[in-house]
Amino acid sequence: MNAKNGMSGSPTGKMKIVIIGGSGRIGSRLAKVLGDKGHEVIAASPSSGVNTVTGEGVAEALVDADVVVDVANSPSFEDAAVLEFFTKSGKHLMPAEKTAGVRHHIALSVVGTDRMLASGYFRGKMAQEELIAASEVPYTIVRATQFFDFAAAISKTAAQGKTITVPPALMQPMSSDDVASMLADVVHSEPHNGMVEIAGPEPIRQDEFVREYLAASGDEVTVVADPKAMYFGSAVNDRSLIPGAHARHGKVRYKDWLKETVAMAHAAK
Ligand SMILES: NC(=O)c1ccc[n+]([C@@H]2O[C@H](COP(=O)([O-])OP(=O)(O)OC[C@H]3O[C@@H](n4cnc5c(N)ncnc54)[C@H](OP(=O)(O)O)[C@@H]3O)[C@@H](O)[C@H]2O)c1
Repeated sequence: MNAKNGMSGSPTGKMKIVIIGGSGRIGSRLAKVLGDKGHEVIAASPSSGVNTVTGEGVAEALVDADVVVDVANSPSFEDAAVLEFFTKSGKHLMPAEKTAGVRHHIALSVVGTDRMLASGYFRGKMAQEELIAASEVPYTIVRATQFFDFAAAISKTAAQGKTITVPPALMQPMSSDDVASMLADVVHSEPHNGMVEIAGPEPIRQDEFVREYLAASGDEVTVVADPKAMYFGSAVNDRSLIPGAHARHGKVRYKDWLKETVAMAHAAK
C-alpha cells in the first residue's frame, strides 16, 4: 500500500497517531484502544506541553505523524471563548499538519451542528469543521450524538433550584466507549474527505434522558419538559439532535450503562 495514500504508516500497519485532547474523556479511551493495537500514540494536550490555541509544542508533536485525531474541547463554553478556541486551534493545527505530511486528520464534532447555529458552542464547532474542510489535509469529520454522561452537563445548565427544564426533543445518545471504538475504526480507514455520523442504538426524549440519569444518581430533582426551552442557546425539535439514515450505531444501551456505572457509583457512596 502506498504510504501517502493508504492507511498503513509502515509495512506492519503500525502508525504514529497524535491525539489532540488525548487526556480527555474520549481522548484517553481512544489512546488505550489504539495503544492496545500496537500503534505509537501521542496523547497531546496542554498538560503534556501541546497547546493548539497558542501553537506551543504542536509542530514538535506532529513530526512523523501519520494520523491526527482532534478530540480537544474548549475549557469554557462561553460563546466568544468557544469560537476563539476552535478558530485558533484550527489555524495552528491544519497548516502544521500540512507541513508535517499528516495523511489523515480526524475531528470529533456533534450531530446537528449546522442546525443549531443560534448556539455559540455550535458556531465554534462549525468554525472548526470549516477550517478542516478548507485545509489541504485529507480528513474525516466524525459527528457524534451526545455522550451518556453529558446528561450531567445538560442538567447543570438547565437547573433552577430543584427544577430542571429541558426541551423534550428526541436525541440518540451514546457511550464514550462506543465513541472511542468507532473513532478507532475511522483511524483504520481511508479519509472520507467529508462527514460521517455516529450515534447510540436507540432514541430517547431529552427530559427522559436527564430524568433517568438523575434518578440513577439519587438526585431528587424535578425534570420538566418544555418545548420552548433552549438547548445551549438554540431551539431544538425532534430532528435537531438525531442523525441521518447513514449513521453508524454503537452497541451500549443507556439503561445498561446507567445500571453499570451511575447507579453502581451511587450505591458505593
Ligand atoms: N459531550 C458530548 O456529549 C459530545 C458529543 C459529541 C461531540 N463532542 C465533542 O467531543 C470532543 C471531546 O469532548 P470530551 O468531553 O472528551 O472533552 P474533555 O474530556 O473535556 O477533554 C478536553 C481535552 O481537550 C484538551 N485541551 C484543552 N485545551 C486545549 C488546548 N489549548 N490545546 C490542546 N488541547 C486542549 C484537554 O487537555 P488537558 O487535560 O491538558 O487540559 C483535554 O484533553 C469535543 O470536541 C466535543 O465537541 C462532545
